[in-house]
Amino acid sequence: MNSSRLTLIAGATGQIGSSVGAHLFEQGGWNPVGLARAPKQDARYPMLALDLTNAQDCADKLAAITSVTHVLYAARFDHFGGELESRETNVRMLENLLNALKPASGNLQHIHLVHGTKYYGHTVRERPTPYQEDDACGNFNSFYYEQQSLLQEHQRGREWSWSISRPHAFCNYRIDESRNMILIVGLYASILRELGLPLVYPGTLRSYMAKTQFSWLPTLARAATWMMTDPRCANQAYNIVNGDPMSWSELWPLFAQYFEMECGAPEDCTFADFAHQHAQTWSHMTSKYGLQNSNLVALAQWPYGDYVMSLQWDVVSDMRKAATDGFHERVNTPKMWLEGFDFFRTQKIIP
Ligand SMILES: NC(=O)c1ccc[n+]([C@@H]2O[C@H](COP(=O)([O-])OP(=O)(O)OC[C@H]3O[C@@H](n4cnc5c(N)ncnc54)[C@H](OP(=O)(O)O)[C@@H]3O)[C@@H](O)[C@H]2O)c1
Repeated sequence: MNSSRLTLIAGATGQIGSSVGAHLFEQGGWNPVGLARAPKQDARYPMLALDLTNAQDCADKLAAITSVTHVLYAARFDHFGGELESRETNVRMLENLLNALKPASGNLQHIHLVHGTKYYGHTVRERPTPYQEDDACGNFNSFYYEQQSLLQEHQRGREWSWSISRPHAFCNYRIDESRNMILIVGLYASILRELGLPLVYPGTLRSYMAKTQFSWLPTLARAATWMMTDPRCANQAYNIVNGDPMSWSELWPLFAQYFEMECGAPEDCTFADFAHQHAQTWSHMTSKYGLQNSNLVALAQWPYGDYVMSLQWDVVSDMRKAATDGFHERVNTPKMWLEGFDFFRTQKIIP
């Protein structure tokens, strides 16, 4: 491994930046330096407090770091689950970083942006699947298009290359990440089971039947490493998903079986309402089963769960381009979910 690398992780405290940063740190040789407005004090690698919306702050603080070789960009300006992100602010953040790096870009080798399926407008309207990286898309009001164009503009005539990953809903086994579908479904199922009720699907029949997909976060971390080092990935975008699209109607009976309860049908209800209605039941359950956290509403980002379940059509990304260029990792989605429930049980988060 090349020990002369120096890798900036923009958004190092976020869901993706923290996992990919940890992966690079554990691999050795990447020498990550995290960027965020409020870096964690107990981080395992150096962190710099920096506001990407502030051009001067970026220029001042990055002036001291002259030997950046790689950038993993996973910053995203504040937004609430399901809301549209600000295009203008997110584009300006990347632009401020690129401008600040310019004076000392002599060592720069690669910039990787973590984007996502919103590139294909998956929340806006039904489109032919599987989504392919070179699909001619309309502009779906996502900041991804302008960030990609900006990156291409800055790269023109330079030695460094870029790559972009397009993952979908992330899954990971972490107790400090409340935006977590495995946690949301695990809590929801545990409460219904406690009440002796079937595992009702909180959504429409259409969303229950539509094909969906997930991205196992450790796979994205390995994919990002691949893209930052394999010359075939220079100036390319890749879908990074588990690779076995499934409908909730295929997963739901497996979840019901895992929790030893009856599988219910789709119903017009939401996770967010459910969490508010069952806070008291959960409080009793935490004492009964010796669980870690009695605040059901704060334990998970319930509206995020409703957002994930709200899609009324197939959302499937094609993994063939990544495979053709050398990334072959696939994830068994049912296994990922069931082992995730095991994880949250072992951690005393769910009974
Ligand atoms: N999460 C998913 O399931 C998912 C799925 C597909 C694609 N994606 C894409 O992946 C990318 C990263 O998403 P994420 O979910 O990891 O985001 P996130 O958890 O919301 O993290 C955002 C990161 O950006 C930092 N940040 C925000 N504003 C900043 C500023 N002004 N200056 C410096 N740092 C700033 C935050 O730290 P501070 O608050 O401390 O500044 C944090 O570290 C996005 O492009 C997203 O669309 C996410």
